[in-house]
Amino acid sequence: MCGIVGYIGSKNASAVLVEGLSKLEYRGYDSAGIALLEKGVIHTERSVGKLVNLRNMLIDNKFTATTGIGHTRWATHGKPSFENAHPHRSEGLTVVHNGIIENYLELKSMLIEKGYKFESETDTEVVAHLIKSNFSGYLRKAVRKSIEQIIGSYALAVISEEEPDRIIIARKDSPLVIGIGEDEMFAASDIPAVLSHTRNFIFLEEGDIAILKKGSYEIFDIDGTPIEREIKQIDWNPVMAEKAGYDHFMQKEIYEQPRAIIDTIRGRYSLEESTVFFDGFEKVESSAKAFNRIVIVACGTSWHAGLIAKFYLEKIAKIPVEVDIASEFRYRDLVIDDKTLFLALTQSGETADTLSALRIAKKMGSTVMSICNVVGSSIARESDSVIYTHAGPEIGVASTKAFTTQVVSLLLFSIYLGQKRGVLGHDESFRYLQAIVELPEVIEKVLEQDKNILEIAKNYKDVSNFLYLGRNVNYPVALEGALKLKEISYIHAEGYPAGEMKHGPIALIDKNLPVFVLCPKSSVYEKVASNVEEVKARDGIVIAVVTEGDEGLKGKCDHIIEIPATIEELSVFPTVVVTQIFSYHCAHLLGLDVDQPRNLAKSVTVE
Ligand code: G6P
Repeated sequence: MCGIVGYIGSKNASAVLVEGLSKLEYRGYDSAGIALLEKGVIHTERSVGKLVNLRNMLIDNKFTATTGIGHTRWATHGKPSFENAHPHRSEGLTVVHNGIIENYLELKSMLIEKGYKFESETDTEVVAHLIKSNFSGYLRKAVRKSIEQIIGSYALAVISEEEPDRIIIARKDSPLVIGIGEDEMFAASDIPAVLSHTRNFIFLEEGDIAILKKGSYEIFDIDGTPIEREIKQIDWNPVMAEKAGYDHFMQKEIYEQPRAIIDTIRGRYSLEESTVFFDGFEKVESSAKAFNRIVIVACGTSWHAGLIAKFYLEKIAKIPVEVDIASEFRYRDLVIDDKTLFLALTQSGETADTLSALRIAKKMGSTVMSICNVVGSSIARESDSVIYTHAGPEIGVASTKAFTTQVVSLLLFSIYLGQKRGVLGHDESFRYLQAIVELPEVIEKVLEQDKNILEIAKNYKDVSNFLYLGRNVNYPVALEGALKLKEISYIHAEGYPAGEMKHGPIALIDKNLPVFVLCPKSSVYEKVASNVEEVKARDGIVIAVVTEGDEGLKGKCDHIIEIPATIEELSVFPTVVVTQIFSYHCAHLLGLDVDQPRNLAKSVTVE
C-alpha cells in the first residue's frame, strides 16, 4: 500500500506534492519521491525514510515546476532503499505506482531482451519501461497498451517530456481519485492528500484511464470509450478524511479486511490447477518432505494466528506443529534441528522476542521462514523465506487486518506444504481455494452486522468481566476476542476452550457474567451448544455467534449474531470479525482512545 499524488496547474508543484504526500504517510513511509516537469525536462528527487527527509532535501531546491507526480512507499517488491524509491523512469518518462504487478518478472525478461536496463528491484520500473516500449507519439495510448499487458493491481500516474501539458493516470484494484480545482487538477490515492485544495472529486472506476490537463480532464473507460463520471462533493473535515470517514484507524482497518485479503492471495494461487505458489520458497520446497515438525513462534495477536495454523497444518499438510510464545521459546531447552521448520509470525517484523527466537532456531540448524507485513523488516531479512501479507500499514495498536491476512496466508501455506509433501489431493485443494476466494464476500456480510453488534455492545460496555468460549479452530478466536476486549476497552476478559469450562471458569458464572460463545456450524457444534446450555442453567448471559439459518440456539441465548456459512476451517474469519467489531464498539462507547490504548505499543522492540 503506497500513496500517490499528481498535480498540474499554476501552483508550485513541489510544495503541493509534498503536502499531499504528508497526508498519505499512513499508507506507507519507508521512502518517498517526486518527479517535476520543469521547462519540459523531468527532474526526480527521492529519499529513503520518512517524508521529512525528502522535505529537507527540497528546502534548497528552487523548483518552479507546476506539474509533477509524487509517491510515498510501502515496500512490496524490493527492500526500502534509494534505488527502489519511486518515481521510476524510462528515458523521457516517469511513473509512480501503487499496487502489485503479478507478471512483472515475465515482463522484465521481455524488456531486458529488448535492451532496457533496470536500476531497481521494483515491479514499477517494469511499468515505466513497458510504457516507453509501447510509446509511438501518444502517451495515453502507450499507457493503455501497457495495462493490457499487465496482470495485477495498479494506480498509476505518468508524466512524459514529449507531452508536458498532461498527466496520464489509470487504476485497477488500487484506489485513485481526481480532484478538480479551478484551472488545476489533482490525482491522489486518497482524498485527504488534496482536500485543502478542492472538495470536488471523481472516483475512478476499474480500468479507467484519465488525461489531466491544467484546466480540463478526460476519462476513458476500460474499452477506451470517453466517459463521464459523477463529480462528488466531499465535506469531511481533514481529521475524518485521513481515516477515510471512519472514526478511528482500527475501525477503518476492520473494514479494510475484505480488500486486504484480496491483496494477500493475489497472484499466489490458481483455481484451475488448484495450486499455490510463493516466491523465494526453494529452501522450504526442497525440504518439504524431510521436515518432521513445524515450530511456530509469535507474540500477542500473531500467536493466536499461530494457534489456528496448528489446526490447518496438521490437518492439511499432515505434519506435527508446536506453537510457542516467543518470550517462552527463547529461554527453554529446545529440541530442534535441521528437520524442524521454524515459522515466525509477526505483523511488524521487529518484535524483539520473535526476532531472538528466530536467531536461536537458525543457529540450531532449522530452516527459518516468516509471515510478515513489513517488507525489509529485521525478521523478514533474516528469514530463509517470507510470505508478505500485503495488508498495508496497520496503525491501530490493536491488530485486526494483520491477523486475518496472517491466517489466510497460513491456510495458503498449509495447502502449499500439503501438496509438496504429497498428502493433499487436487479436490481438497480446490475446496479450500474456492472457499478462500469467497472469503472477502463472507467478511463483507459480517460487516453489515455492525449496527446489530453495536446495540449489543451498549448493554455490556460497563461490565467488569467477560468470558469467551470457542472450540477447535474457534478456540484461538476466543483467546483473540478476549485479548481485543482487554486491550482497548480495559474490560477483563478470558478466552477458554469451551470444553474446559467445567474445569474452572464455570465457577464464575452467575447472572452478571456475559459469555461470548463462538458456535458456527461445525464438527463440534453440538458440543459447544451444550456448553451454552450449561451457562444458561447457571443464569449466565449468552451472546452467541451462529451460522445463518441455525435455529438450534434461538430462544436459548440472550443475543444471537448470525454469520454467513463457510467451510469449518474458515469460520474463524467471520467469528473473529464479530469480536473485533464488538470490542471496538465497547471501547468507543466508553470514550477510550481506541487507536492508542494505554500502556500498549504497536511494535514491541524491547524484551
Ligand atoms: C504488540 C502489539 C500486538 C501484536 C504483538 C506482536 O503487543 O500491540 O498487536 O500482536 O505486539 O507484534 P508482531 O508485530 O510481532 O505481530
